Amino acid sequence: MYYPDEKVEEVLRANNIVDVVGSYVHLQKKGANYFGLCPFHNEKSPSFSVSEPKQMFYCFGCGAGGNAATFLMKYENYSFQEALQTLADRAGIKLPEVNYSEEARKREEKRKLLLAVNKEAAVYYYRLLRSEKGRKGLRYLAERKLDRVTMRDFGLGYADGSGSDLTAHLKSCGYSDDVILEAGVAAFDEKRGMHDKFWNRVIFPIMDVRGQVIGFGGRVMGDAKPKYLNSPETEVFDKSRNLYGLNIARRSKAPYKILCEGYMDVISMHQAGFHEAVASLGTSFTEGQASLIKRYAQEVLLAYDSDGAGVRAALRSIGILKKAGIPCRVIDLRPCKDPDEFIKAYGADAFRERISGAENSFFYELRMKQREFSMEDPGQRTQFHHAIAAKLCGIADEIERENYLKEAARKYYVDEGGLRRLVASYGRSGAAESVWRDGAASARSAPDRPAGTRAAKDPDETERRNERLLLTWLADEPEIFAQISPYIQPEHFHEGVYRQAAEGYWRILSEQGGGNPASVIGMFETEQEHETAASLFNTRLKGLHAARDREKALRDIVISVRTSAADRQQKRNENSAQEPTAEEVRDMIQTRRDLQALRSIRFHLADAP
Ligand code: UTP
Ligand code: MN
Repeated sequence: MYYPDEKVEEVLRANNIVDVVGSYVHLQKKGANYFGLCPFHNEKSPSFSVSEPKQMFYCFGCGAGGNAATFLMKYENYSFQEALQTLADRAGIKLPEVNYSEEARKREEKRKLLLAVNKEAAVYYYRLLRSEKGRKGLRYLAERKLDRVTMRDFGLGYADGSGSDLTAHLKSCGYSDDVILEAGVAAFDEKRGMHDKFWNRVIFPIMDVRGQVIGFGGRVMGDAKPKYLNSPETEVFDKSRNLYGLNIARRSKAPYKILCEGYMDVISMHQAGFHEAVASLGTSFTEGQASLIKRYAQEVLLAYDSDGAGVRAALRSIGILKKAGIPCRVIDLRPCKDPDEFIKAYGADAFRERISGAENSFFYELRMKQREFSMEDPGQRTQFHHAIAAKLCGIADEIERENYLKEAARKYYVDEGGLRRLVASYGRSGAAESVWRDGAASARSAPDRPAGTRAAKDPDETERRNERLLLTWLADEPEIFAQISPYIQPEHFHEGVYRQAAEGYWRILSEQGGGNPASVIGMFETEQEHETAASLFNTRLKGLHAARDREKALRDIVISVRTSAADRQQKRNENSAQEPTAEEVRDMIQTRRDLQALRSIRFHLADAP
């Protein structure tokens, strides 16, 4: 943790979450809470809520949630520190500069050092390309029809055949062997000692959104293998959270970004005037990259290779984009293999036409699915129609689903009414999932179910749900704390975020007798943890009004949490070779007593407000 807990709390207290979120999302007051359209997934009716008393937001549609800092982390792609800094600025609070933990400070210094090495290496390669030694590289890039301006825009460079010149240069700049190796620009082996990672290749520096060089790709100037060599992941190079070309594409005003597979594709498109192009980094497209792209685009156009591997990759990416709530279309590049070849063969105007003719991802998925079946065979045709129905089930919005249904029926000559009935029957049984499970198209979570309707409940999830219900109840009605605290302690919660959050909230409740759970979320740093912690305070039992019912429900939950904790402890004991300690034996006896007492206890609650 960079800042002391009190400072985090002070900053959170000084910012009303309703104002913070309200400057991004149109909020309307409904009852105790504010509601609006969730900025983190696509929806037409508001399920995104902001609670003023709790100082938290939570989306009942997609599960996004947290405090004001979490919101900025998600919306602006900030780190926790950046979010807190923004909130502090907003409230005119000065954050202590040097309150980095020792470890965090070291990591930050290391990052700066690695970035400096990368920058130095990029400059070295850049100059080499434009020097006498770089002629071969320049000739290669010219053959690929890149002009000087493009080469400059992308900082292209060259590593010659020497094998250790860069390493020597970096050493002469005063960087240690360890740092040079850690930056990934050099490698070490017994035979050659320390040597450059890249040689005899043209160099594509990889930059983050802000334009800082975080790694390199190097391409052979011929047919040797591997075609591209990439820097390994380092402290500054996370391949799953950066996109090639985004430092340029972020400035484009077009509402979409074009996602493609290769560095050369991005560069070619850019040169032809399509400044929206980005590519993943030699690995397949990730959720992290989807949330990154979402900050800069309302829609993604896929320009993947038109071969089999490209189609599989496109189907996979469609799934990831859909999950992230980003609409997507697919650009048809046939008869060419990739955007680079297409632009060379047909020019920018033809490419622009392909952009405007890009196919809706839903129909692209259907078209690719159809290729698995022989349409002449009635049996196979039927299977395909079932697949269409299953796919339609994945569209949560009814009107949208109906529109797609009509269009699909027309396109594939299926009886509309029949298709509608099929969809309805799938919708009820949940069987749709299995239809798309085989094949590449189903690597993702097949048809999207509305949130909260998971088919089979796994026992661990049931246990966790009870813990969430309890914490939410406490947040809504802190006055029950005194009644339940004799029976439940934080140690009865699942390890990890659940337990840490319980510990934090217990502290607030026992010291202050109440308070908003937003500061509990502030104990965590990653977005994932924030989200989990937020769900702990936003799980509610619906439809309980009478005091009697509520009392019984609360008792059931308390008993369940306590029993599950005891069961988990018992399992640990059974798996352990050691005899239980005296303290553990005492705990077991106490647990039995408490559970006995709980069976006849009566909590005192009022009717629901
Ligand atoms: P492609 O094989 O489609 O290459 O790889 P390309 O982009 O068309 O390259 P050119 O036009 O032949 O120069 C697409 C991307 O996959 C990664 C690279 O990021 C490349 O841009 N890749 C490919 C590798 O990392 N290593 C390889 O050996 C090949
Ligand atoms: Mn290519």
